[in-house]
Amino acid sequence: MHKAIINYLTLVLLLATLSSASALTLRRDGHLVDLESRSVPQAIDARATNARLSFYNGDGKIGSCGVPVSNTGFTVALNPSQWSNGAHCFQLIIIEYNGKAVQAQITDQCPGCPFNGLALTPGLFQFFAPLSDGVISGSWFTQNGTSI
Ligand SMILES: *[C@@H]1O[C@H](CO)[C@@H](O)[C@H](O)[C@H]1NC(C)=O
Repeated sequence: MHKAIINYLTLVLLLATLSSASALTLRRDGHLVDLESRSVPQAIDARATNARLSFYNGDGKIGSCGVPVSNTGFTVALNPSQWSNGAHCFQLIIIEYNGKAVQAQITDQCPGCPFNGLALTPGLFQFFAPLSDGVISGSWFTQNGTSI
């Protein structure tokens, strides 16, 4: 009888140990997720906030990345400070303004834009605001988390 109780207690102890071991594994997994999401904050660090967003007419002409810039495409022209000799051509970015977010692609350079500033196509700008707004202040970051 006593032996049965001791066996039972041993089993309970064993189960407790096992479940705490799996809790540890879970926690370890959570930590890995933490580490992974720590590379996302790098994207958040690289997030351009209060970025000047204007628009321009590409009129279908070849942009600085060597492809035509349509006025309706969701593409942007990057400011000269971050242009890096065209290193970011075709990079995908996410632009946010007033609770809206959309993906766009860098296909051109904007000579008059300040650091963090982008010139959007009219079609893209209108996704966020009427053209009559002229300039809006939004934020953007690269889709794959690399900083620009
Ligand atoms: C992110 O995208 C850019 C441009 O497409 C590329 O050069 C860079 O290697 C990418 N980085 C990662 C971490 O995928």
